[in-house]
Amino acid sequence: MKQEKKLKVGILFGGKSGEHEVSFCSASSIIGAINPEKYEVTPIGISKEGYWLSPEKSRQALLTGRVEGKETVCWESKTDKHQFIIVDHQDSNLSCSFLEKLDVIFPVLHGPYGEDGTIQGLLELMNIPYVGSGVTASSLAMDKELMKKIFLQEGLPQTRWLMVKRKRWKNEPESVLAEIEKKMHYPLFVKPTNLGSSVGVSKVKKREGLAAALDKAALYDRKVLIEEGIENIIEVECSVLGNDEPEVSVIGEIKPAGEYYDYDAKYMDENTQLIIPAGIPDKVVQQIQRISKLAFLAIDAAGFARVDFFVQKRKKSYWIYLNEINTIPGFTRVSMYPKLWEKSGIGFSELIDKLIQLGLERYQDRLLNKKDYPSKLLQK
Ligand SMILES: Nc1ncnc2c1ncn2[C@@H]1O[C@H](COP(=O)(O)OP(=O)(O)O)[C@@H](O)[C@H]1O
Ligand SMILES: [Mg+2]
Repeated sequence: MKQEKKLKVGILFGGKSGEHEVSFCSASSIIGAINPEKYEVTPIGISKEGYWLSPEKSRQALLTGRVEGKETVCWESKTDKHQFIIVDHQDSNLSCSFLEKLDVIFPVLHGPYGEDGTIQGLLELMNIPYVGSGVTASSLAMDKELMKKIFLQEGLPQTRWLMVKRKRWKNEPESVLAEIEKKMHYPLFVKPTNLGSSVGVSKVKKREGLAAALDKAALYDRKVLIEEGIENIIEVECSVLGNDEPEVSVIGEIKPAGEYYDYDAKYMDENTQLIIPAGIPDKVVQQIQRISKLAFLAIDAAGFARVDFFVQKRKKSYWIYLNEINTIPGFTRVSMYPKLWEKSGIGFSELIDKLIQLGLERYQDRLLNKKDYPSKLLQK
């Protein structure tokens, strides 16, 4: 029997965001699990400075965790101690030629400059199929303010929130503080609008801490988001898979080690627990699954996304608040996104296979538009 030609898959990892380390681990997990009979993998590492590495250097980085004597960051490492700083200017020139030879790219880049539509835009321009959401959905999901506006339009349940621009905070702090206190009750959560991994996020219990929290978030972003904090929450997450008709997984629960799910609870503290399935009644599960699907469709996401919620129990009823949608969720063997699918009957390798196929399908869909375009113009 003639063996079918293997599909050439590029795995983009690393990247310029604070989630560089997590991406490194997600990519290693994917490369370790991808079906070698069906796919030929080319790893493409991006350094913290944004330089693209040749496949050889990327492979070396993944295998050894060390490049040119500098230790590459990994799961347990503190970001400020280890950096992925291999810079070879010639590699950047190489990158275009090897990118063009790939059949599909799986961007395993979390956070800004990877999950936010920038890489997706580059791949669109290069006309290369890729896994996951397109430019618009990726950007919307990364900007917490715009994401909330879309969810509001769709009538999805959220906490009360307010966005303040850094310029306004610097110019009229008293009016900003007064507006926040008029519209919301403590505790508050103050966050940079475009970031992830809880970087720059503060929980504020009273006025004394508010200005410092706004200053901190404003270090990371020109837009700061202030949210009313929900107390005594059960944090739950749902995995979504598909394009125009997405499917949803069982629901998982996060039990953060600290007071809330901050950076340390996410990546450092082994006491953070993932509980699958979450300990909430079936009716609440169904609502969360329904809202997850609506959130995915609301931003026009594609391929995969993890939708995160806060659930609050008040006497006998449960209140659901949609927190956010992540278009490139953590993808290590122990991450919530693949674990939820595993529990729903789709194993890690099969999941990767499905995501690649969904990426190709979406590319085909776009090709149809392109064919239509010139003839429509001619008809005018
Ligand atoms: N409004 C809120 N009420 C209660 N907890 C919150 C609220 N906003 C954020 N948190 C806590 O902070 C964590 C990080 O916030 P999140 O908005 O998810 O930021 P990131 O995009 O960095 O993950 C959440 O997982 C949750 O534990
Ligand atoms: Mg979050």
